Amino acid sequence: PHAPGGPAVGLRFEPISQQTGDRVTVPPGYLHDVLVRWGDPLFSDAPEFDPENQTAAAQARQFGYNNDHLGLLPLGHHRDDHVLVVNHEYTNEEIMFPAYDPENPTRQQVEVAWAAHGLTVVAVTGSRRGRRSGALDVVVDHELNRRLPLTAAFELTGPAAGSEYVRTHADPDGRTVLGTLNNCAGGLTPWGTWLTGEENFHQYFAHAEAVTDEVARERLARYGVLDGESERKWERFDPRWDLAQEPNEVNRFGWVVEVDPYDPSSTPRKRTALGRLKHEGATIRLSDDGRAVAYMGDDERFEYLYKFVSHERYRRGDRAHNMTLLENGTLYVARLTGDSPPAEIDGSGALPGDGEFDGSGEWIPLVSGTTSHVPGMTPEEVLVFTRQAADAMGATKMDRPEDVEPHPRTGVVYAALTNNTARTPEQADEANPRAENKHGQVLELAEEHGDAAAGTFGWRLLLVCGDPEDESTYFAGFDKSQVSPISCPDNVAFDSHGNLWISTDGQPGSLGTNDALYGVAVSGRRRGEVRQFLAVPTGAETCGPVITDRRVLVAVQHPGEIDGATYEDQASHWPDGGTSVPRPSVVVTYRADGRRIGQA
Ligand code: FEO
Ligand code: CA
Ligand code: CA
Ligand code: CA
Repeated sequence: PHAPGGPAVGLRFEPISQQTGDRVTVPPGYLHDVLVRWGDPLFSDAPEFDPENQTAAAQARQFGYNNDHLGLLPLGHHRDDHVLVVNHEYTNEEIMFPAYDPENPTRQQVEVAWAAHGLTVVAVTGSRRGRRSGALDVVVDHELNRRLPLTAAFELTGPAAGSEYVRTHADPDGRTVLGTLNNCAGGLTPWGTWLTGEENFHQYFAHAEAVTDEVARERLARYGVLDGESERKWERFDPRWDLAQEPNEVNRFGWVVEVDPYDPSSTPRKRTALGRLKHEGATIRLSDDGRAVAYMGDDERFEYLYKFVSHERYRRGDRAHNMTLLENGTLYVARLTGDSPPAEIDGSGALPGDGEFDGSGEWIPLVSGTTSHVPGMTPEEVLVFTRQAADAMGATKMDRPEDVEPHPRTGVVYAALTNNTARTPEQADEANPRAENKHGQVLELAEEHGDAAAGTFGWRLLLVCGDPEDESTYFAGFDKSQVSPISCPDNVAFDSHGNLWISTDGQPGSLGTNDALYGVAVSGRRRGEVRQFLAVPTGAETCGPVITDRRVLVAVQHPGEIDGATYEDQASHWPDGGTSVPRPSVVVTYRADGRRIGQA
C-alpha cells in the first residue's frame, strides 16, 4: 500500500528510472546545466581547453580532472555569490591524452597529470541569469580563484609532523609536502574551512621491493603499496615517487587536508592528528561541550570507521583559534556489536529475528595528542600507520566505509558502506550482513545521549542496497514496491528538510545501469523511501552532491571510464557531444519554474 501523505517534503519530484545513456538525466520539470568542465579557464591568462595541445602550465590555470567533492560556501553580500571548492581525485590518462602509451608516458603528459590533480577554489555566481534560472557561472579571475596542483606547497601539521617517518631528502624537516593526491570526499567546517581526504595514494608509488626492512615492508603492504613500476610511471620523472630513492614520501600522503578558501595565499594543512588512511573525507559536528568531532571512513574492503575529537573547544567568531582545533585531540576507531544471535546472521542478508540489523558500539581510543593507547606503538607510529594501530585494537572490519556524515539536526551519523565482494558468509556480521556484497548498505550511528564526543553509540542499518526485487535488500521497512533500485552508496549529503541524499559509485557493474543520485527520507512514515533524482553519463560516477533549496550540484567524475576506451576510441562524449573527449564536470540542476527542489 502507498504510505499516506505523499513523499517527504524535499523529495516531491517524479523519480527517474534507471538509465544507461551517455547523458545526464533529471526529473520532469527540472533543468540542468554544466557549470565548469575539465580544462575550463579559471583565469583569463589561461588558454581555452585544447585536448590536442595540453600543457602543464595551461592545466595549472584551468579546472582539473575528475572532480569529486564539492562544497559551496558563502561569498560577500550578494546572496547568490558563492565560493565553490572542488577536489580532483585522479587522472584517466588513456582517455585524456592523444596517442597515450601507458608503457611510455611522456614528460609532458606526466606534468599535465600533476597539474590536473589537486584542488580548485573558484567563485561562482547566480546573478548573471534570469530570476528563475538556477544556473551558475564561474567568475573568471576572482581574487579567491585558486588551483593547488601537485607542485603546490602543503604544510604537514600536528603530532606526526617532523617525525622520522615523514622526512625526505627534499624536506629534511618533514613539514612541507608538494601537493595532495587522490582527494575523494570532504566536508566544510563550522569555521568556514574545507576538509578533503587523500584516498588511494598508494598507487602513485613504485618499487616497494627496494624496501628491505621487515617492519617497513609490512607497513607498505598494509597500505597496498606495490613492488615494481607504478601504473602512471611518474617515478621516471621525479625520484620522490620511487621508494628506492625516497622511502618516506609515501607517508606524506593519506591525510585529511584543511584549506582556507577565503585566503588565497594560505598554505593548506595536512592534519596528522586525524590519522593516515585511505581517507574518503572528514565531516565535523561539535560535541555538547563544543569540541570539534570529525567523522571519517577508510575506503577499502574490511577497513574501519574513525572519529577524531579535538582537545580544545570551538569559539564562536574566533576563526584563528578554530583553525587550530584539528591539530590536537584523540583519534578513535569503531567497534560494532550486533544485538541478534550471531547464528541468525548467515551472510544471506535475511533479517534476524528482531527484524533489524542493529546493535551497539564503542569508540576505541588510539592516540591522544602525544600519548599512544596502542601497546608497542609510539604516537607518531599510530598516526602514520593508523591501520595497523586499529588492527591491534580489534576494530570492526566494514564493507568499504566511504562518506560518513552527521545529520545536521539529529547528529545521527550516516555511513555509506559501498560494497565488499570479498566478504565470506563466515565473515558476515550484523553491520555487514551480506557475503559477496555487491550493493553495499547505509548505516546509522547514534552517539550516546546524542553527544558527538561520546565513547559509545547505537547503530542500525537504514538501507541494505540493491534492486528491491532482490530479497536481500532492506529499505528501513518501507514498501519495497515504491522505491528506486540503488547500489554502491558512496557520498552522502542532507537537504534543509533533513532528507538524506546518496550518490553512487559502481552501479554499471552491479545493477547494469549508470551511477545516480537519490533522495531518501530518514524519519517519519516515509523513512526508507529511496527516490532517484539524477543519473550520470556512461562510465561516470556521481560525486560531491550539494543540495540547496534551489539547486542540486553534482560532480560527474570519470565519464567514459570504460575498460579499453582510449582517446581515439571513447566510450563517452559527454558533455560536449559529437566526437569530443569526455570531460569531468560540475552539473547544476534546478527547477524550470524557479521553485524549490522537491516541493510541490
Ligand atoms: Fe574515491 Fe572512496 O571513492
Ligand atoms: Ca568517493
Ligand atoms: Ca538485530
Ligand atoms: Ca568511490
